[in-house]
Amino acid sequence: MNAGYPRQRLRRLRYNATLRSMLAGVRLHASELIAPIFVHEALARRRPIPSMPGQFQRPVADAADFAASLFEKGIRAVLLFGIPVEKDPSGSGAWAEDGAVQQAIGAIKSAVPEQLVIADTCLCEYTDHGHCGPLVELPDGRQEVDNDAALVGLTRTALSQAQAGADVVAPSAMMDGQVAAIRTALDAAGFQRTPILAYAVKFASSLYGPFREAAESAPKSGDRRSYQMDPLAPKQVLPEARADLAEGADMIMVKPAGAYLDVIAEVAKKIDAPLVAYQVSGEYSMVRLAGAAGAIDERRVAIELTSAIKRAGADLIITYFAEALAGWL
Ligand code: PBG
Ligand code: ZN
Repeated sequence: MNAGYPRQRLRRLRYNATLRSMLAGVRLHASELIAPIFVHEALARRRPIPSMPGQFQRPVADAADFAASLFEKGIRAVLLFGIPVEKDPSGSGAWAEDGAVQQAIGAIKSAVPEQLVIADTCLCEYTDHGHCGPLVELPDGRQEVDNDAALVGLTRTALSQAQAGADVVAPSAMMDGQVAAIRTALDAAGFQRTPILAYAVKFASSLYGPFREAAESAPKSGDRRSYQMDPLAPKQVLPEARADLAEGADMIMVKPAGAYLDVIAEVAKKIDAPLVAYQVSGEYSMVRLAGAAGAIDERRVAIELTSAIKRAGADLIITYFAEALAGWL
């Protein structure tokens, strides 16, 4: 029993709906949401992604229309992923001047100049083996992603994205030194003012499954555990965040979000940089599919889960619910 009872009744603050809503300190706002967009190099029209109901692979022109419609609904930022037709061992399509992402950046910036365009900087959608950098064979015959070779491709990719007009680049490969390499190259090319949103604390999560179908980026063999973080090794969280900040990151990302609220809270408390949380594809699909099955009220669950990410300490949230939330809030 509450020791202050009956003088203290904690429910007193909950009886009146107006007071309740005035006291709700956590409020989601559309302007804090970032919407991912999958841009396909060769599609004639948008194609639904079966594992992510409500999400699409989009041709460039459709991506620009979608970005414009999001802006009208109050969403101020998009995060672009590209799906190329051809892949190779080094992922060279990632820095093609006329790649899907590079074209979409231009198309979105000319359709809605105020829409913040963030380009995901990685190679896994472009490598034929599906890993986030080129592979190297170790003396024992095993293959591994070659960290320093990946930096070369990631740097060229970030540069091509900045040249295409990206407002922010977001390296997501989890290679050591990727932020420093990109910062140096951007500065040397005159892009000192382009911020880096670093996927600093990115776990090797099973919740990326639907994304890999959407982006056609699943590794052909092996997994990403030699570069993405172990979900059960929380001691690596702060070193990863601090390393990226020291390398020149302007904003820090934690990913996934919902199952990592402890991580978000810790980074929010200890790291002095804007914190972005990525509610990933699996988090989205679980809610959509359970909603479609009638097991949950997807709208209320989506608002609750996304709000919890904000309560934990995220400043901005990347979410596939961005468009829907903008309507619901
Ligand atoms: C690629 C990348 C991934 C996601 C964002 N960038 C997939 C992965 O690391 O395999 C996942 C996003 C999601 O699941 O929504 N580096
Ligand atoms: Zn990748």
